[in-house]
Amino acid sequence: MIFSLGQLLLPLVDLLLVFSDQCKSGIWIMNPDKMNTRLEGPKIRTFDHIPPRLCFDKCIRRPRCHSYNYNRHILRCELNYKLKPGSVEHFHNEVGFVYVDVDHYRGDPIYDTCLGNPCKSGEVCESKKDGSVFCTRDQENEVHAEDCTKLNEYKHKSRIYTIFPSKSVEGLKVFCNMKNGGWTVIQRRIDGRENFTRTWVEYENGFGNLRHEFWLGNKYLNLLTSIGSYKLRVELVNSGGETFYAEYSNLEVNDASSNYELGVSGYSGNAGDYMRTNSGYYFSTYDRDFDDYENINCAVIDGAWWHWHCSNSALNSQYNKTLRWGSGYIKSEMMIQRTG
Ligand SMILES: *[C@@H]1O[C@H](CO)[C@@H](O)[C@H](O)[C@H]1NC(C)=O
Ligand SMILES: *[C@@H]1O[C@H](CO)[C@@H](O)[C@H](O)[C@H]1NC(C)=O
Repeated sequence: MIFSLGQLLLPLVDLLLVFSDQCKSGIWIMNPDKMNTRLEGPKIRTFDHIPPRLCFDKCIRRPRCHSYNYNRHILRCELNYKLKPGSVEHFHNEVGFVYVDVDHYRGDPIYDTCLGNPCKSGEVCESKKDGSVFCTRDQENEVHAEDCTKLNEYKHKSRIYTIFPSKSVEGLKVFCNMKNGGWTVIQRRIDGRENFTRTWVEYENGFGNLRHEFWLGNKYLNLLTSIGSYKLRVELVNSGGETFYAEYSNLEVNDASSNYELGVSGYSGNAGDYMRTNSGYYFSTYDRDFDDYENINCAVIDGAWWHWHCSNSALNSQYNKTLRWGSGYIKSEMMIQRTG
């Protein structure tokens, strides 16, 4: 049999850790609850290059931590958020990972280094040099969630958050509207301060200010709508201050090679079904014309959109031309929610 140096050394590291812990406080033995298994879902934090005992410690020192995934080959430690009662945990076979539930170790002096010093949710228990412990705010306890809908299981305030839609994308800043289950906001017009006459590349990557007016970006619309099923909600305000909405139970935005082709269906609402005719059409900007007209670029007239002919809906038009959804509006917000 041939072992790599790492394979030989790792059990040795474990042994030494167990050994040094025995001297302090009895025998610390960790039997993972599941082997070659990883719990999916939001993480409190991820630590790299730390030994298994430290990973356990990082979890039990945080009241919010319920379990962790540990990979002894890459020494990665992922602290899993405590889920809401009734939520279903999703386990995944992944060679090299073990899953450990720490809740049943809480209160045991051999394992629970902060026994007798309960911290609040969002805090972490730290040790001083003299061995005493204290609670402090866990500064970097970002929940790593795929979108605002997932994040809504833990966060309820509408504001800017960082989401992690895929392993290939670093954190993406988005505005989450946390009403009714959590929505990732993809467009907002409120006062015309942002210029929406923008190029294909700008619409692709997104622009504007998430606190004011913006377009999230077609590549992110594609990314999000390809990780799960989404619905779309469009909220509108007219010059009289009256509000209207349109919802579509299915939304898909295709990838760049399909010119971010739109798929929407399942209308409900009171603003009118003015996007149905755009379904199946490509995105157009003033510098890239994919609408159905030969000589007219609807994006020059009405702003960037999934134009078919020059559409009944056009919410990226010049602000002073009014935003169109059948009739004219002065404010719009488009947002998406995960449905499956
Ligand atoms: C918006 O940007 C376009 C393209 O750069 C430019 O032609 C136009 O003048 C700008 N509009 C305003 C109001 O600044
Ligand atoms: C809207 O603003 C643009 C850019 O400032 C200007 O060129 C255009 O004339 C304005 N249109 C109206 C209807 O006021």
